[in-house]
Amino acid sequence: MDYSAILHEIRERLAPVIGQGRVASYIPELATVSPQHFGMAVVCIDGTVHSIGDADVPFSIQSISKLFTLVMALQCEGDALWQRIGREPSGNPFNSLVQLEHEHGKPRNPFINAGALVLSDILCTRYAVPETAVVEFLRKLAGHENIHYDRRVAKSERDTAHRNAAMAYFMKSFGNLKNPVGQVLDAYCRHCAIEMSCIDLARAVTFLANHGVLPRSGERLLTASAAKRLNALMLTCGTYDAAGDFAFRVGLPAKSGVGGGILALVPGECGVCVWSPGLEPSGNSLAGSLALETFTTLTGRSIF
Ligand code: DON
Repeated sequence: MDYSAILHEIRERLAPVIGQGRVASYIPELATVSPQHFGMAVVCIDGTVHSIGDADVPFSIQSISKLFTLVMALQCEGDALWQRIGREPSGNPFNSLVQLEHEHGKPRNPFINAGALVLSDILCTRYAVPETAVVEFLRKLAGHENIHYDRRVAKSERDTAHRNAAMAYFMKSFGNLKNPVGQVLDAYCRHCAIEMSCIDLARAVTFLANHGVLPRSGERLLTASAAKRLNALMLTCGTYDAAGDFAFRVGLPAKSGVGGGILALVPGECGVCVWSPGLEPSGNSLAGSLALETFTTLTGRSIF
């Protein structure tokens, strides 16, 4: 497959929509990012890299971090994790509180904010400095040391994290957070503020395209069964209340973030990441979703 030619074709087709959508502004520091960025990368299991545009520019990964905190939390807890977090799409916005009351403080899935706060809580129990553990895990997956979290973005989100705080206190009242709420929110805001490029992220997800084994070293990070389940969760819950439409249009497991990144994978073949900061109303990158839709149309590589 000539992925380089395909990426060029995608950028050409997408040119009219790059810059459309709204850059996330509820985290003030994210509102300063230009909506004109567009980057895309494909990293194959054999290590081959194809990229276009701003694919090597680091951006705020935001909720894409939840994919990696889920892997880490699974490594800590195994299947016991599912006693505290569900596995169903929520059909609601990523920051919604409504289902928590009826469902006794158990979040629908690990990729909505409530679920990700429980993941951060698990990491707070396991690690003295959880955000450092997440950064180190991502350095290992991306294969280089130059990965950090942006302190200004983390502070900007922490200063305005009133809704996440409400969710966290609510879950704590049901006993579903073990650590102090402030500590969990600090860890959460910091791992959301990690910066990585499309190339870094596409490489970091290749182990999930490779049945849980890190392609470069052969190290197994998850069982094949756990990797399959994680891919299924990405497909059903990774793009929030747009997950059904995303599966319909794109047909790949994917995880998005309000920084404008969407990280997807083709099982058995490659990681694919796109970044374009303008968002559609559900919080997914507008041009990014279209780029991935075009990717599966041109390559015929969807899971269906
Ligand atoms: O909790 C928040 O609001 C952000 N740090 C992460 C949200 C996010 O990326 C949701 N994505 N679509």
